[in-house]
Amino acid sequence: MSQADRTRERLIEVYRKKAKRYDLTSRLYPAPGYPQRAQRTRAVQSLGLRAGDTVVDMACGTGLNFQLVEAAIGPTGRIVGVDLTDAMLARAGERVAANGWSNVTLVQADAAEFAFPAEVDAILSTYALTQVPECGQVIAHGAAALSGGGRWAVLDLKIPDLTPRWLSRLGGATVRGSASLDEWIARRPWETIRAATRERLVDPSWTELCFGTAFLAAGSARS
Ligand SMILES: C[S@@+](CC[C@H](N)C(=O)[O-])C[C@H]1O[C@@H](n2cnc3c(N)ncnc32)[C@H](O)[C@@H]1O
Repeated sequence: MSQADRTRERLIEVYRKKAKRYDLTSRLYPAPGYPQRAQRTRAVQSLGLRAGDTVVDMACGTGLNFQLVEAAIGPTGRIVGVDLTDAMLARAGERVAANGWSNVTLVQADAAEFAFPAEVDAILSTYALTQVPECGQVIAHGAAALSGGGRWAVLDLKIPDLTPRWLSRLGGATVRGSASLDEWIARRPWETIRAATRERLVDPSWTELCFGTAFLAAGSARS
């Protein structure tokens, strides 16, 4: 098994354990008082969705964005929810059934390998893409699949820019149990996402949220 496969297996195990309580615990994510719901709303609004749009929610987890997206696209629209972890998708499926949404397709796939459907109107990823080592590639694949003027938006966490590297490394070291956090801090995936959105999208925007601990990156596909 390659290192990438081992990382993927470990991630799936982590989210299998989290899935059952994810909707509850995510209210405190990444810290109590964090305006997560408001940030989700802002991310969905940045897509400028219209009735009938097709939206990919990349690494959708349990589908916490679905309600917001459904409200914008209506029953003639379509959501494709993609996630690596079966247990998270199972919770998403329960949410879809409970709400009677008949326009949601759930796909178990690695974001890096997912073949985006053609002519997608919008792609959203919240609190997930920085966990994907190939995040720049995912932005590129998505941008290529978007219809002209279609929108990409990524909401995720980051380390504030002015945090000295030694301090963020120390932060990582104190939670050594989570080797992936160490790796995340060293990899600085938000910089990759920022560069990829600048390169692949027109009118790219980058908004720092919550004192630089989160960001919203967005942009449009070339017409
Ligand atoms: C913190 S949860 C966020 C879920 C959801 N987007 C939300 O906002 O609540 C991260 C999700 O990313 C998924 N994930 C991580 N790496 C992935 C990958 N390479 N491909 C697809 N999904 C991935 C996990 O399975 C998990 O469901």
